[in-house]
Amino acid sequence: MAKIFVTRKIPGDHLDKLSQAGHEVEVSDVSRALTPEELLDKVKGVDGLLCLLTDHIDGDLMDAAGPQLKVIANYAVGFDNIDMKAATDRQICVTNTPCDEVNEAVAELTWALMLSISRRIVEADEATRRGGYKGWEPDIFLGTDLIGKTLGIVGLGRIGSMVARRAKGYNMTVLYNKRSPDPEAEEELGVIFSSLDELLAKSDIVSLHVPLTEETRHMINKDTLGKMKKGSFLVNTARGAIVDEHDLVEALKSGQLAGAGLDVYDNEPNIDPELIVMPNTITTPHIASATYSARNKMGTMAVDGLIDAFSGKKPQNMVNEEIWETRRK
Ligand code: DGY
Repeated sequence: MAKIFVTRKIPGDHLDKLSQAGHEVEVSDVSRALTPEELLDKVKGVDGLLCLLTDHIDGDLMDAAGPQLKVIANYAVGFDNIDMKAATDRQICVTNTPCDEVNEAVAELTWALMLSISRRIVEADEATRRGGYKGWEPDIFLGTDLIGKTLGIVGLGRIGSMVARRAKGYNMTVLYNKRSPDPEAEEELGVIFSSLDELLAKSDIVSLHVPLTEETRHMINKDTLGKMKKGSFLVNTARGAIVDEHDLVEALKSGQLAGAGLDVYDNEPNIDPELIVMPNTITTPHIASATYSARNKMGTMAVDGLIDAFSGKKPQNMVNEEIWETRRK
């Protein structure tokens, strides 16, 4: 039997499965993310941790938990909130929740933002709600159509590919950038490999789908924003810190960019105050995976990862699988 701490209640009844498997489960009883101090206190003596992307899990926290901490199940696909080196050095298994349900949900929100920002849907909706609709007019809320335009996808992994697939229906030219060309994706999706500079210069709308690493942190900055096609759009449903928010504000103010659709922010939950008042931004609160089916699958995967690891079966969604044989037992 393992002692498992869950840092916040998750949707559905997945946690019951942990108790049914014989584990002792404590779920945080506050309906917000725990502060770092609260988390440090709560993890003491636990064998397993089910945490969220809002929890910063570093080596100090792992040591505060104690040498019996064996499994960290992150209720997210991205795991930049966990110091992976620290976990791997300590032989602690880390799992995440990559699945089609999440990937499709993120691709769908990416498209929702692409369409909403280019057709000014949120801005128009707000004006209507304020009583601004006085009858049809020839020139209100003119937007940009996406049909036949060029979409630049930075990071053609599972989510980027799903975004590209949807672009077929819009007859778009899709440029992509990743470490090396992907002939299979080119064949299947009709996408075209480009250098980052070329992609930025040619795309009418750029969508980011790279993980957050030291290499991608602030990869969209004054310099790269300056390389984007004038009057183009930027969409970010990946991780906020890929974009330098201050530089983005300047690019939006100057008209270098026509708009930005953002679901993630550099310093969540804080957002550059200028971004939320600009008419040419859409700012959703990190909801890309917020569909019933995605969150359901995330719950199943996080819980199954813990149950499997504690029963000696390698979780299918283990991030640092290289330590499975030598893991803490
Ligand atoms: C993830 O799973 O990484 C998403 O950002 C959660 O919404």
